[in-house]
Parts: sequence; structure tokens; C-alpha cells
Amino acid sequence: MDKSVTFCGVKFSNPTVLASGILGVTGSSLLNVARHGAGGVTTKSVWYKEHAGHRNPVIVATEHYMLNAVGLPDAGIEKTRVELPRILKESPSPVIVSIVERSITDFEKVAEEVAKLKPPLIEVNISCPNVDDEFGKPFSCSVVEAGKVTRAVKKRVGKIPIIIKLSPNVTNIVEIAKSVADSGADGICAINTLGPGLMIDIEMCAPVLSNGVGGISGPAIKPLAVRCVYDIYRATGLPIIGTGGVTTGRDAVEMMMAGATLIGVGTAVHYRGIDVFKKIVQEMEQWCKKNGVKRMENLVGMLSSRNMKDIKSVS
Ligand code: DHB
Repeated sequence: MDKSVTFCGVKFSNPTVLASGILGVTGSSLLNVARHGAGGVTTKSVWYKEHAGHRNPVIVATEHYMLNAVGLPDAGIEKTRVELPRILKESPSPVIVSIVERSITDFEKVAEEVAKLKPPLIEVNISCPNVDDEFGKPFSCSVVEAGKVTRAVKKRVGKIPIIIKLSPNVTNIVEIAKSVADSGADGICAINTLGPGLMIDIEMCAPVLSNGVGGISGPAIKPLAVRCVYDIYRATGLPIIGTGGVTTGRDAVEMMMAGATLIGVGTAVHYRGIDVFKKIVQEMEQWCKKNGVKRMENLVGMLSSRNMKDIKSVS
């Protein structure tokens, strides 16, 4: 069984990728995930300068979903300059470096510095739901701003492909996807967390998270993610990292049928442990064998070419 996929010209040995901000918070934990069978790994989002993030508690998990408002903590580009070269050298699978910033000028600065370290791919996080207090609405909420930041980053990274991470918390994600596609995005990561959501400790009559609200992830958001991936695939044809609630091999097959080439895995690490990548790939392989699919890459966009030809999506 050929499990490999090619995404923006980069070969991945299997379609699973660690999502940004999960486990990959230090260089060693990122390498550990890569060594546990992830087809690729995404770093936590890198800022130009140090960024503190929120106080604990920052994560709460239930059986059905997770809520988090970590607040994008990061030591900044100086630390990345020291840590990243070793990770790029030692990782058995491609490393996607995620970047985040508050303004277009600062996005340009961090993009230029990260590009000097020559990662195979850069993910541009324009959709964190938890830093509105500090910086206002995310770029991913505006067709114009999303396009602007894409063009600005693209100019600073040379030939390194850029993946724009989009938010589901908009009226029409397809408009945003088209805008970033027209502005030079090489790929799209869909979706970031849903919300924000609020969980109340009823004994304390207080929010559970220090930030009050947080992004919702996990199995409950999968149908939303699959629909967004499907719509974006049909509208742009760009390669997509389908992220949102994928927990099993069947979920991954579903996400690829919708149009994803790579599968982002984040919250499922909490439910199934660090071997979740191997488990998902094994389950996918079993499914493919049973259903006569010879190469995993053949799953990409299968829904459009087969059973949704005449069915319009909502956007
Ligand atoms: C955070 C960032 C995200 O992009 C997200 O989806 C959820 C939480 C954070 O760091 O708070």
C-alpha cells in the first residue's frame, strides 16, 4: 500500500500531520511525535518577539470536545533560530513551521526570519480565536485582510510554499479561501478551532479557563471541518490540510474524500495518546485494502468526482 502523499511539492510518508500547538511545544516533543509515526509535524506558532500567553488553566477536556485558550505562548524568533535547525535536521518527517503576528509588518518580519532557516513549508496562523482582546479580530475574518497578509508573507519567503490557516468562525469561509488563493497561498489549512466557547464551573459560578473562553476542538467539530474542506477544495483546488476532530482512520478517509491531502491531528492525541498517528494510518490502510483503494492519495477529493457532482454546498 502506497501511503505517501505529496503536498505543495513536499513528500510525506503518510497523510497524518501533528497540528500546531499540540505537543510540539518544545523541540524535543516535536521530534518525539515525528519519531512516533506522524507523516509530518507542525511547530507551535512562532512570534517575532516573545509572547507570554495566558495564565493556567488553559485547557479543559471532556469526552466530546476540548476547549483551549493557551494564548499562543512563544519565546520568539531568537529562540527559534537556536532550536529549529536541529529539529529540521533530525526530524524523520517534514516540519511545517507555523508563524503568527499582530500586524502585517510584523508578519513580514517573522516570515523573513523563519524563511532564512529554510523549512520545507510555512503555515500562517491568521485565525487564533483567543487573542482578540490583545489584537482585535483575526485576519481570517476579513476577505481583504486575509488577502493582504498572504501577499505580504509570500513576498518574504522566496520559494518556500505558504499554507494559510483559516477560521470556521466566519459567515463564508469560501470567500476567504478564494481571497488567499488569489493572493498567492500555496495551500490551506482548514479549520482552526471553533468558537470561542464558554465552559462554566457551576460550583464556582466562574469560567473554567483563565481566559474565560476558548477554541473548541475534537470530534464534535469534524462535520464542520469536513464541510469546510469540501467547499474550499471545490472553490480553489488548492492542496488542503484537513484539520478538525479527526480521531480515527475512518475520520481521516472521510476528510481526504472531502478534499484534504494531509490530515491535521491535534486533540486526538489527548484521546488516543502519542501513537494516534500510527493507529490512524493502520486503520486507514485496513479501510483502503477492504475497499480496493491502492494508494492513499487516490482518496483526495473522491467525493466531488463521484457522488456530489450535482449537489451544491451551503456557501
Ligand atoms: C490558541 C490558538 C489557536 O490557533 C487555537 O485554535 C486555539 C487556541 C491559543 O493559543 O490560545
